[in-house]
Amino acid sequence: MKGLSGKKVFITGAAAGIGRATAERFYQEGSSLVLIDMPTLEQSELQAMFPERMKYIQADVTSKAGLDLIFAEMEQGIDVLINNAGITRDATLLKMTDEQWDSVLAVNLTAVFKCAQKAAQVMKAAGTKGSILNAASVVAHYGNFGQSNYVATKAAVIGMTKTMAKELGRAGIRVNAVAPGFIGTPMVRKMPEKVIAMMEEKTPLTRLGEPHDIASAYAFLASDEASFITGTCLNVDGGIVLG
Ligand SMILES: NC(=O)c1ccc[n+]([C@@H]2O[C@H](COP(=O)([O-])OP(=O)(O)OC[C@H]3O[C@@H](n4cnc5c(N)ncnc54)[C@H](O)[C@@H]3O)[C@@H](O)[C@H]2O)c1
Repeated sequence: MKGLSGKKVFITGAAAGIGRATAERFYQEGSSLVLIDMPTLEQSELQAMFPERMKYIQADVTSKAGLDLIFAEMEQGIDVLINNAGITRDATLLKMTDEQWDSVLAVNLTAVFKCAQKAAQVMKAAGTKGSILNAASVVAHYGNFGQSNYVATKAAVIGMTKTMAKELGRAGIRVNAVAPGFIGTPMVRKMPEKVIAMMEEKTPLTRLGEPHDIASAYAFLASDEASFITGTCLNVDGGIVLG
């Protein structure tokens, strides 16, 4: 896709699911990758997948130490940030603990804000006409049982994306969100079989999405093909949001 080759692309939560598929897509496009994930994965696994143009930062995006590592690398240059890391800690409103609420907000919202803020500061200072992409979810549009914490973060991400787009447009920095429907990643595969079957049934295109479906949306929105698109939230959901 036009304008991705040679770009330095940061992806949080890059070791699994959508993040990993997104890393593969940008690698194929000739981008240089800075992959960020929890300090659990053996670096050698990613090095085998991405033998060149890849730096792996083992960092928790909710910790100061993790953010310091990421920000130090951003200061060396950044063209694209994909704020993909996200978690669920489901419970109904009546049962949700403070820990469940706080942990989801920390990863899905506060870290998105902090990484976007630093990326924007570096891009603006360097005159880079970069792109910031944030992971939302279709549940932001219609709510989801047992996910008041998660849905709150995803709706907030959409609002924050629009605000960032307004503030950064003059600097030529575009900010967009992608709202996946139900995608067959570890996050969704751990749901009960019958919930997955119900989601497929509710989806006009009658299947779960694949991680590469979301990677394609990120690649498009980061590319020059989307140079007049900012502040949008692209639903990639097989039509499930139509109800
Ligand atoms: N899978 C779906 O159906 C779906 C639907 C809507 C939105 N999303 C969003 O897409 C994004 C990716 O989802 P996924 O299904 O690929 O998830 P996943 O659980 O498969 O992968 C998420 C990755 O993020 C990493 N991560 C989690 N917390 C982190 C932290 N504190 N610091 C650094 N890395 C961390 C995990 O280690 C993991 O590798 C998330 O933001 C999610 O909310 C997914």
